[in-house]
Amino acid sequence: MTTAKNLVCLSIILAVGVAGAKAEQKRPITETCLVCMCEALSGCNATAVCVNGACGIFRLTWDQWVDSGRLTVGEEPPQSENSFTNCANDPYCSADTLQNYMVKYGQDCNGDEQVDCYDYGAIHYMGPFNCQADMPYNYESIFKNCLKRAKKQQQQQQ
Ligand SMILES: *[C@@H]1O[C@H](CO)[C@@H](O)[C@H](O)[C@H]1NC(C)=O
Repeated sequence: MTTAKNLVCLSIILAVGVAGAKAEQKRPITETCLVCMCEALSGCNATAVCVNGACGIFRLTWDQWVDSGRLTVGEEPPQSENSFTNCANDPYCSADTLQNYMVKYGQDCNGDEQVDCYDYGAIHYMGPFNCQADMPYNYESIFKNCLKRAKKQQQQQQ
């Protein structure tokens, strides 16, 4: 059950990040959605790593980072050599980057007349201009099972 433990840790990190962040930033992606995205993308494995140029628990790309306003960790200037990888490997910075990305590109990809977590997962993985396509099987099944599990847990807590 290490994955479950990782998820708990991650959601605490993300929750603190959300609470401590600047009020003016818009955050369309819920915490549960972020957790399920990272589980599907990387197993929420926080080991700093880039896979084909996509880095960190959310497998952010350079283009996404630039498109989302080049957020950086602490006072690091956006032009510095490692600012992208440092941001992608930081849970707050990478989550905030995705939030900005979805403020910009959020849309109804699956035609259910809502813009929700499923759409964000599709936009992040397949890009804003191809998000109507089917998600790759592995990604989709981990992502949807995670969302289903989270929903069940929320219902049990009520
Ligand atoms: C996390 O990723 C690193 C680097 O890819 C890998 O060596 C390690 O085994 C992974 N950890 C888990 C728990 O999967």
